[in-house]
Amino acid sequence: MMESTFWDLLPRPIIGLAPMDGVGDHAFRHIQKKYGVPMLIYTEFTAADRLEIGDHALLKDFFYDESQRPIVAQVFGHIPDFFRRMAVMLCQLGFDGIDINMGCPAPNIAQRGAGAGLIRTPVLAQEIVRAARAGVREWQEGARLRDDRGAPPHLVAQVEEFEAKLPAAYRQPRAIPVSVKTRIGFDEPVVDAWIPRLLESEPAAIALHGRTLRQGYSGTADWDAIARAAELARQAGVPLLGNGDARSLEDAQQRAADYRLDGVLIGRASYGNPFVFQPGGAEVALAGDPYRLLHIAVEHAQLHAATLSRDRPQRFLGMRKHLGWYARNLPGASGLRRDLVLTSSAEEVEALVTAYLAYRAGWEGTGARPRPAMRQPAQSHG
Ligand SMILES: Cc1cc2nc3c(=O)[nH]c(=O)nc-3n(C[C@H](O)[C@H](O)[C@H](O)COP(=O)(O)O)c2cc1C
Repeated sequence: MMESTFWDLLPRPIIGLAPMDGVGDHAFRHIQKKYGVPMLIYTEFTAADRLEIGDHALLKDFFYDESQRPIVAQVFGHIPDFFRRMAVMLCQLGFDGIDINMGCPAPNIAQRGAGAGLIRTPVLAQEIVRAARAGVREWQEGARLRDDRGAPPHLVAQVEEFEAKLPAAYRQPRAIPVSVKTRIGFDEPVVDAWIPRLLESEPAAIALHGRTLRQGYSGTADWDAIARAAELARQAGVPLLGNGDARSLEDAQQRAADYRLDGVLIGRASYGNPFVFQPGGAEVALAGDPYRLLHIAVEHAQLHAATLSRDRPQRFLGMRKHLGWYARNLPGASGLRRDLVLTSSAEEVEALVTAYLAYRAGWEGTGARPRPAMRQPAQSHG
């Protein structure tokens, strides 16, 4: 009998956090899971050839903590064997699933035949799914990254260090499912041609963004095309998650019901909104404390500083956009926002937020207008 995986066990509809390169790093995922509780989380995509290259920073994208389960690692590329090798490593890192990106529209990726480029080469797409599954099988049979002669020793050491800290259950051989995230077409919607070809490779699940590559992120997602794909997937017994423009938990649940889907992924609506997966969203969560998001911004920045940017402070710059998003709807916060997106450390963020809250408290207490928040660089750079 086939071992069940989280795809079988999660209640329906599965409302999860979409993979987002440059956004969905460890710190962001941790905060989303802590405050909003998406039922499923994907990492940002990572190039399958980074193992071959021996990229020192590879594990940064795959860093996660136990709170984020079930967590799926996403990989992109166009060379099947790289996916097999990567799959061994991802199993060893304790991921609950491996996802193959067949939806990225970026020219430098799609034009090389990876991402959404694979929609045009369904045979290669199938080979990639099978290669990733072969890597999972090899891991189940005892293969480890150290057996891969192309894997650089520093990476093997990092992976083994991470693996040693995993709970025992995740160090045992398990059936790690291989899924695919894709779009409805390249130039035009081609669900009836593309989805059956994809299904032939028996992915554990499909997440489908209702736009073509050519659309990029413009226009609106075509949920009728998603519904058609779901019908095809249902006949094959494969769960399908719809994606594109869902604004809230309720909106996602409604779309799952209307289009008969196993679930929906939410992406951009989670920017600066750790409550998007909660009933009522930010409106309910912030009702008692309109400044709660700023405390979360500080927590997020501190987590980033303690993990992702601990050894490389310049990585903290990746935090800036999140800070801008957290502060975007606050009253009288244009100065704060301007300053937050220039910060370089968690201490600096905390100082700015403390100053802003003090001004607000003074203003709300006395009726006086607050002075604009000021940068405090000397204090924060230490
Ligand atoms: C900044 C950004 C980065 C993204 N990175 C990825 C990625 O790494 N992998 C992927 O499959 N999709 C990626 N996507 C696409 C999203 O997962 C999602 O399909 C798309 O944003 C539509 O969903 P939404 O309307 O809920 O945002 C990205 C989207 C954005 C906006």
